[in-house]
Amino acid sequence: MKRSSQHLIITGKKKLHGEVDINGAKNAALAIISASVLTNDVCVIENLPSIDDVTSLFKTLTKLGAKCDFKDNHTLVIDSRPINSYTAVCENVKKIRASYYLVGAFLGRFGRAEVMMPGGCDLGTRPIDYHVKGFEALGARVNIENGIIKASAEELEGAHIYLDFASVGATINIMLAAIFAKGVTTIENAAKEPHVVDCANFLNKFGAKIKGAGTNVIKITGVKELSGGEYTLIPDQIEAGTYMIAAAATQGDVTVKNIIPKHMDSVSAKLAEMNCEIIEGDDYIRIIGPEHLLSANVKSMVYPGFPTDLQPQMAALLCYAQGTSIITETVFENRFQYINELRRLGCSITVEGRVAVINGLKQLTGAEVAATDIRAGVALIIAALNANGQTIIGNVKYIDRGYENIEAKLKSLGADIERVRR
Ligand code: UD1
Repeated sequence: MKRSSQHLIITGKKKLHGEVDINGAKNAALAIISASVLTNDVCVIENLPSIDDVTSLFKTLTKLGAKCDFKDNHTLVIDSRPINSYTAVCENVKKIRASYYLVGAFLGRFGRAEVMMPGGCDLGTRPIDYHVKGFEALGARVNIENGIIKASAEELEGAHIYLDFASVGATINIMLAAIFAKGVTTIENAAKEPHVVDCANFLNKFGAKIKGAGTNVIKITGVKELSGGEYTLIPDQIEAGTYMIAAAATQGDVTVKNIIPKHMDSVSAKLAEMNCEIIEGDDYIRIIGPEHLLSANVKSMVYPGFPTDLQPQMAALLCYAQGTSIITETVFENRFQYINELRRLGCSITVEGRVAVINGLKQLTGAEVAATDIRAGVALIIAALNANGQTIIGNVKYIDRGYENIEAKLKSLGADIERVRR
């Protein structure tokens, strides 16, 4: 079925009940597949989510010579040694944000990279100047010509790099470029997100010397070579949070399994503040949605703050809370585009710059809407799950970029959701 013409049809008012397994982390997968370019042996990446962004990346690498083979749906065997080009210019590169990691990875391996400017969700201007400054500090020349990032260096040398903002992409990209650089690279004000740590763990397992991942100072001592082997990705913090919020929105009772509960602290705390019951185990969280959700104020922050990638889902939930809630988006300058679509369901939201004020309504009603990006799409699903009547969501291709089997998972929890071609 052609993705562009697919829709999700949701009939609301079904409480979600049961257990849901969370897949491996999308953003860790994209960083680690890119990092495999630096290894000198076969890598077996386990717990890989079966999503379109992953497909776009491995197709790009396959085109450049990598040998990719799926042992099963969630295990990729990748041999990057045969890659014989540092030029990634194709449609698949444009489709995703994370293709920017190929610049760091190719620069580290070949001393050169030519990669099309990345695509991904439209959340504002999303410049890559911190990445570029980092590569330049390591000794690379970087130009952007005709939409292609061109970087080259005779030799990369360790440097002290301060990031103006704790950018996830820049932190990982500089880490990739610095793996074989001479001497020590220090990244100050580094991002601390779980996938930064996961990528560092992957690289360290195969011989890199990265210290401090998960803190705001990361030190990378250059090494000569990386081996390969097996690596299991962390679970997806954002997918887990999405199902937790969906349970809360429907007065449901859902156990979100195969997760790292610590990664969910900011989300669990906010949902508890809204009157949800949260029961935490070693690798699961059970969430019981209350009859009456309380309003709350949410500010998206870098980790361990509330993730910006759960901000739209939270906005959908707050539409069902009693009273007024305020959402402040501090990471991206334009992450409220989905609100126009939410309004079609009857939400009362005003937006002023980076602040959205939500007047919680008791009831929303189904309508025809369209996803504007990955997380916007699932926010609409969450709103629709508790709305009266039927909601038809278009642009499902965005949702498929980041969520594996979303309708099957929701159906197994009792949702009335169908994928159709119209
Ligand atoms: C990554 C995630 C995305 C998540 C975001 C924040 C991937 C593939 N994507 O995106 O899902 O929402 O982290 O957790 O992992 N900035 C600059 N210049 C730069 C880089 C960033 O100004 O060179 C700004 C951005 O515009 C944004 C902020 O810094 O306002 C944070 O961006 P960053 O953490 O880099 O996000 P991404 O890596 O794009």
